[in-house]
Amino acid sequence: MGRPLIAGNWKMNGRVADGRLLAEEIAQRMHRARETDEPQLPECDLLVCPPFTLLETVHRALAGSGVALGAQDCHPAASGAHTGDISAAMLADLGCSHVIVGHSERRHDHGEGDALVRAKAEAALAEGLVPVVCVGETAAERDAGRALAVVTGQLAGSLPESFEPERLVLAYEPVWAIGTGKTATPADAAEVHQAIRGALAARFGAGAAAAVRILYGGSVKPENAAELLRAPEVDGALVGGASLKSDDFWRIAQAA
Ligand code: G3P
Repeated sequence: MGRPLIAGNWKMNGRVADGRLLAEEIAQRMHRARETDEPQLPECDLLVCPPFTLLETVHRALAGSGVALGAQDCHPAASGAHTGDISAAMLADLGCSHVIVGHSERRHDHGEGDALVRAKAEAALAEGLVPVVCVGETAAERDAGRALAVVTGQLAGSLPESFEPERLVLAYEPVWAIGTGKTATPADAAEVHQAIRGALAARFGAGAAAAVRILYGGSVKPENAAELLRAPEVDGALVGGASLKSDDFWRIAQAA
């Protein structure tokens, strides 16, 4: 496995002062770790994805920390008459290097399907952003024994046609594990991650498949991070609730 990625998805949380404080706390830990070796610098890449309204504030607070900035969504078009939407170009302009696309909350709340997710991922790549493409099955789909079929189906429809493997991140987030406190077991996660890796290899070749980082997301906490991150084919975590506390986010990073 290459260097893991620990990403925080802040979702629709935080006013400007909250976002600034949280980002400053993370940045301070990074600076302190660099200067004193105590606490130790995490052996992973760190990414935070605040809501659009906090991007500029968080960008400033993270300056020089080495923590990357991402957004939670983008529109597939570069610009134009799309009221309320934000383009990948605008995100790049604000200092983002990553953007989450296809999160299950967007698939559910906004009826986003695979073709749209793929268009968003393509738009992100075109602007030099790394798309973090999310897939995951619901509880009913898992209970029906369809988890792998659903995930590989979403993958087939949501992935961009061509990409540099280092510039694509996937996230497996079982819907039933998001914000519920229920976590996939390391074996469950490994099974799906292996299927994702296999599907990537079949379509893009083994070399490309090996270089794409596949994150696990769904109730990742400091208490369960180490065992999830040790599971085969798990290259990092996409953390929701626990990323809103700098201490928890840091402990998860330390577990990587
Ligand atoms: O994108 C992260 C996510 O959906 C998981 O959220 O709160 O279960 O860690 P949470």
